[in-house]
Amino acid sequence: MIPSFASAFMCLATAYCVQGSPENERKPYIVYMGEVAEHRARLSIMDEHHQLLLRTVGDEDMARESKICSYGKSINGFAARLLPDEAKRLAEEDGVASVFENTRRKLLTTRSWDFLGLPPTSNNSSNAIVESNIILGLLDTGIWPGSPSFNDKGYGPPPAKWKGKCDKGANFTGCNNKVIGARYYHLDNDGSSTDEPTPVDTDGHGTHTASTAAGIPVKDSSVYGIAKGTARGGVPSARIAMYKVCWSDGCSDMDILAAFDDAIADGVDLISLSIGGNSKEYFNDSVAIGSFHAMRKGILTSCAAGNDGPTLATVENVAPWILTVGASSIDRQFTSTIKLGDGTITSGYGINTFSMKNKMYPFTNGAHATNLTGNDYGNISACDSGTLGKNKVKGKIVYCLGDSSQDHTIRMLDGAGTIVAIDEPSDNYLLTLIPATYVVRSKNGDKLDRYINSTRNPHAVIYKTKTVHMAAPFVASFSSRGPQLTNPNILKPDITAPGLNVLGAYTELTSITGESTDRRYSAFNFMSGTSMSSPHASAAAAYVKSFHPDWSPAAIKSALMTTGKTSKSHQANR
Ligand SMILES: *[C@@H]1O[C@H](CO)[C@@H](O)[C@H](O)[C@H]1NC(C)=O
Ligand SMILES: *[C@@H]1O[C@H](CO)[C@@H](O)[C@H](O)[C@H]1NC(C)=O
Ligand SMILES: *[C@@H]1O[C@H](CO)[C@@H](O)[C@H](O)[C@H]1NC(C)=O
Ligand SMILES: *[C@@H]1O[C@H](CO)[C@@H](O)[C@H](O)[C@H]1NC(C)=O
Ligand SMILES: *[C@@H]1O[C@H](CO)[C@@H](O)[C@H](O)[C@H]1NC(C)=O
Ligand SMILES: *[C@@H]1O[C@H](CO)[C@@H](O)[C@H](O)[C@H]1NC(C)=O
Ligand SMILES: *[C@@H]1O[C@H](CO)[C@@H](O)[C@H](O)[C@H]1NC(C)=O
Repeated sequence: MIPSFASAFMCLATAYCVQGSPENERKPYIVYMGEVAEHRARLSIMDEHHQLLLRTVGDEDMARESKICSYGKSINGFAARLLPDEAKRLAEEDGVASVFENTRRKLLTTRSWDFLGLPPTSNNSSNAIVESNIILGLLDTGIWPGSPSFNDKGYGPPPAKWKGKCDKGANFTGCNNKVIGARYYHLDNDGSSTDEPTPVDTDGHGTHTASTAAGIPVKDSSVYGIAKGTARGGVPSARIAMYKVCWSDGCSDMDILAAFDDAIADGVDLISLSIGGNSKEYFNDSVAIGSFHAMRKGILTSCAAGNDGPTLATVENVAPWILTVGASSIDRQFTSTIKLGDGTITSGYGINTFSMKNKMYPFTNGAHATNLTGNDYGNISACDSGTLGKNKVKGKIVYCLGDSSQDHTIRMLDGAGTIVAIDEPSDNYLLTLIPATYVVRSKNGDKLDRYINSTRNPHAVIYKTKTVHMAAPFVASFSSRGPQLTNPNILKPDITAPGLNVLGAYTELTSITGESTDRRYSAFNFMSGTSMSSPHASAAAAYVKSFHPDWSPAAIKSALMTTGKTSKSHQANR
C-alpha cells in the first residue's frame, strides 16, 4: 500500500491549525525511530510513518495533513503536528525511540590561522589535491557565493563522491567549484516569517563561518581598512556545502535533522554547526541525533559550545561524539585614541570605522544634555532614549554610562559621536554605528566625565580604530563553561579555537552592523562567538583528515584534543 503523498518525500509544511485551547492545539513534534536499515526502500519507510500516524490520530485525512516530512536516508523518523496525548501514545509504539517537541535554536554569534601557526597555503601540491577532495558541510544561515573568498578559479569539478545539490532561490547566483552545494530547509515555516525560500545568506553568519573553514586566501581584506591582511580559511583547497537551516525566526530542530540526513547522504566529510540550544537528553536533541548518524558514517561534527559564559554549567551541544568548541582570543585587539581639548590623550576600545578627520567636537554628557525636568523618569547619565534634548546633542560627542545601545540613541539625535563607559572590561568588541568607543568607567571613564564637568568649553575627538598586539590566547568570557548537566562524567567543552573578532567573508545583502539604516557594506566583517570557533576546529579536523583519510571521527577528535595546549581562562585586562 502506497500512500498517495508518496511522491513528495521531503514534503512541504502544510499549515494546519486546530482552533481551541492549548491542550488541543497541534504542535510540531519529531518522532525519532533510529537508523534506516540498509537497502530499505524509501516508500516502505514513508508507509511505516504513515501507518504509525494513522494508528495514532485515527483518521486518514488527519494523518496525511498532520505529517510535515519524513526523514529516511540515514535517520529514520518524521516530523508531524500532534496533540500532546498523541505524542505520548506515539512514544510508546514499538520502534519509536523518542518523540520530542520541535524547538527553535539560535545562532551563536583572519589572521586567526597565522596565529594558530597553520601555513598559508599548502606547499605540498600532492596534499593540496587530497585537500581539494574534502567537502566541509555547514548547517547555517546560507551562503553568499559571490564573496571573493569563494572564487573557484583553478578548482576542478567537485569530487566524484559528491551527490549533493544546489537549490535555486532569490538573489542566489548559484554554486561553483568551490561552493559545490547549497540547500535550504524551512519546514517549520508557519507563515509568520517573511524569509524568501533561498539558500542565499541574508545574515552574514553562514558566509563568515564557511570562509573561516575553507575560504581561499584574499589579499588586502579588511573592514574599512581595519585589520588589513590576507583573510583565509583553514583548509583553503577544500570544498564547501551549505545547508541553510537558520532563518530570521531561528533554526528549527526539524530543519536541522533534515539537513543532517541530506548532508550525510550527499557525501560531506565533516560537518560544522554554529547553532545553540539548551542541552537536552540526547534522544530529544536534534543535534545529538544528527551528529550521531553522521559519526556512524565516519563524519565528525564540530559544534559551538555556546555563548552563555562565564556562568558555569552553560555548555551546549555536549553529546560525546561531538567536538564541542569554546571560544578563545587571538593576539589582536582594537583600540581608538581619544584626544581631549586640553591635550590629554587616552584610549577606548571597540571597532570604529569612522574618521573624524582630526577635528575637535564639543564634548558633553547625559547630565548636561538632558531636557528632563525634575519629575521625569529616565536614566540621564546612561543617555536613555527620550532623556536627551536633540538641540543639546546635535553635533556633539556625548559621554554616556551604559552598554551597547548608546550609539543608536546618539545617532538618532544627530550627535557627532559617543564615548560609552562600562563597569567591567569586555573582550568582545562591537562595531559602532557612529564614531564611538568604549572605556572602562573606573579606569578612564570618570576622568573624561570630570573633564566635561569641570571645563567651560569641553572638546574631544575619537580616532579611527587601530589594531594592536596583545597576549593570547585566553578563553573569551562569553564562551560557555562546563560542567555539562546531561552527562556530567564527560568533560565539555572539548577544545577552544579563535572566536573573538574574527575577520571573515560577509554577505552583500546586509550592512556590517545588520542595521537597515547603516549604509556600510563590506566583503569582510568581524564576528565574535563560539560560532566562529566551530569552523576553525572543523578545518583543523579536515587538515588532519587530509593526511589521515582513514582515521575515524573519534581518532581525529582525539588527535586535536591531545595536541591542544592548555591555557588559563582569564579576562582581558585593559
Ligand atoms: C523528551 O521529550 C518528551 C516530549 O516532549 C518529554 O515528555 C520527555 O520528558 C523528554 N525527555 C527528557 C529527558 O527531557
Ligand atoms: C612546507 O612549509 C612548512 C612550514 O612553512 C615547512 O616546515 C616545510 O618544510 C615545507 N615543506 C616543503 C615540502 O617545502
Ligand atoms: C605531502 O602530502 C602527501 C599527501 O598528504 C604526503 O603523503 C607527503 O608525505 C607530503 N610530503 C611532504 C614533504 O610533507
Ligand atoms: C534581493 O536583493 C535585493 C537587492 O539587494 C533586496 O531588495 C531583496 O530584499 C533581496 N531578497 C532577498 C530574499 O534577500
Ligand atoms: C526631550 O527630547 C526628546 C527628543 O530629543 C523628546 O523625545 C522628549 O519628549 C523631550 N522631553 C521633554 C521632557 O521635553
Ligand atoms: C544608570 O545606568 C548606569 C549604566 O547602566 C548605571 O550604572 C546607573 O546605576 C544607572 N543609574 C540609575 C539612577 O539608575
Ligand atoms: C559630572 O556631573 C554629573 C551631573 O552633575 C554627575 O552625575 C557626575 O557624577 C559627574 N561626574 C564625575 C566624574 O564627577
